[in-house]
Amino acid sequence: MTFSTEGRWSRRSTLAMLVSGATSSFSMAQAGRVGPYPFRLGVASGEPLSDGFVIWTRLSVDPADPRGGLPRAPYTVKWEIATDERFTAVTRSGEAIAHPELGHSVHVEIEGLPSGRPWWYRFILDGHSSATGRARTTVPAGMPVRQLRLASVGCQHFEQGYYTAYRHLAQEDDLDFVFHSGDYIYEMTPNEQVRNARGGFTPVVRLHSGDALFSLDDYRLRYAQYRSDPDLQAAHAAAPWFGSFDDHEVANNWAADLDQVGTPSDVFLLRRASAFQAFYEHLPLRRTSLPRNGSIAMFRRAMFGDLLQAHFLDTRQFRSDQPCGDKVKPLCADIENPDATILGTAEEAWLAEGLQPGRARWNLLAQQVMMMDLDRHTDDIAPVPLLNMDAWTAYRAPRQRLLDHIHAAGLGNVVVLTGDEHQAYAGEIRLNGGTSDSPIIAHEFVGTSISTAGDGSDLRPGAAEILSRNPHCRMINDQRGYLLCTITPESWTSEFKVLDYVSRPGSPIHTRVRFVVEADQPGLTTSEA
Ligand SMILES: [Fe+2]
Repeated sequence: MTFSTEGRWSRRSTLAMLVSGATSSFSMAQAGRVGPYPFRLGVASGEPLSDGFVIWTRLSVDPADPRGGLPRAPYTVKWEIATDERFTAVTRSGEAIAHPELGHSVHVEIEGLPSGRPWWYRFILDGHSSATGRARTTVPAGMPVRQLRLASVGCQHFEQGYYTAYRHLAQEDDLDFVFHSGDYIYEMTPNEQVRNARGGFTPVVRLHSGDALFSLDDYRLRYAQYRSDPDLQAAHAAAPWFGSFDDHEVANNWAADLDQVGTPSDVFLLRRASAFQAFYEHLPLRRTSLPRNGSIAMFRRAMFGDLLQAHFLDTRQFRSDQPCGDKVKPLCADIENPDATILGTAEEAWLAEGLQPGRARWNLLAQQVMMMDLDRHTDDIAPVPLLNMDAWTAYRAPRQRLLDHIHAAGLGNVVVLTGDEHQAYAGEIRLNGGTSDSPIIAHEFVGTSISTAGDGSDLRPGAAEILSRNPHCRMINDQRGYLLCTITPESWTSEFKVLDYVSRPGSPIHTRVRFVVEADQPGLTTSEA
């Protein structure tokens, strides 16, 4: 048997397979007469290591069908890895089975490749060749790296705007990776209007298929609709991704086994299990993230030589319920609950174990909800802060434990990348929160949405008042786009890339502002673009 149940190939088994031409181990799978073009959902790579990465596709001849227009039978799909875009030098090839149990998705964990260089990959089935994707192996931990470039993206409501940001992202040179902070899909029913920042309504640009999502087929159909977008496909094909989920992959503001409308936990967990399976099926994740017993393993680390240690967090699956009735509310005593958690016990211990000096020049916390304090009052007279009870600011005890740990460990170069807000923010996180005189512990860059909330403007009404009430928050912007980060041993530069519009295709892109963190010099410096 040359194909293990983990879907992993060893070099020896691959070579043996190629030499012998053996196919008997795949007799359970159809040799493939798939008919029409089966790669309509594109390709992707993800979870890069120094010797490999995951390559992904999901077979579908009809994205409007929850089963992809395919019979319920396994298919054997060929894959190829090459050192060049034209596949003149194929370094590795093999076969993988697309199981109907997993929606005919394919996750192949490539290993044994030379480190620190680009690779190209594609899939082949029944005479059809997929689009070509570009991946990249990382530099091994501790080895010198002079520069990294990453993009941070999130919140891609299909109805509320075109994915022009992804079209531009796909043209960025040599991205080492893309981090998706969540809201890859939205679970709601179709809605012909979107509420805009001025309290009015704007027509959407396209409609969700189906209804609100509850079953596995519901979620699969929604993912397939999103994954049919050519701009999203281009962004996946351009660079390896680290995907994570926030709330809308399941249901708005869910927390562990609770939804927002009081569904009994054992009932909600059935919906969550369907959502997790569909999430796994559509992202280039490792086998370790295959859902088991209704849970999914999503917090993990990645090393990029001696330059960056990235910690990808899960702030949803293990958190305690939002305090003070959730949503945006005036500060109340429950935010100080010492028993509250946002990461859960095991993830919090895992993160503390990883946040140690000497591993890399920079530490990245790549996660979902805002970590800095933010009083959201839009006037200058209200005495009690108005807080987002879904964010770290409402989970004071676990946030303080994290900041205390970073401070005690003497880690100076910590950057937090966040999504969720549908606006961009840049700010400094101090040990005792807010604008206290305590030391700066970390720097946070909140990426805006790809499309959610539709066309924006530079500032929403009230944003100037929020900035004046929160001096540690250095920038707010309400346009759609993404965050582009360039990391060197000397500095971390974050560029806020913004679009003029998403209500029609083709917007140009600009850099709204550029922030720099100098290594070992806490604090943000800015240069207007
Ligand atoms: Fe969102």
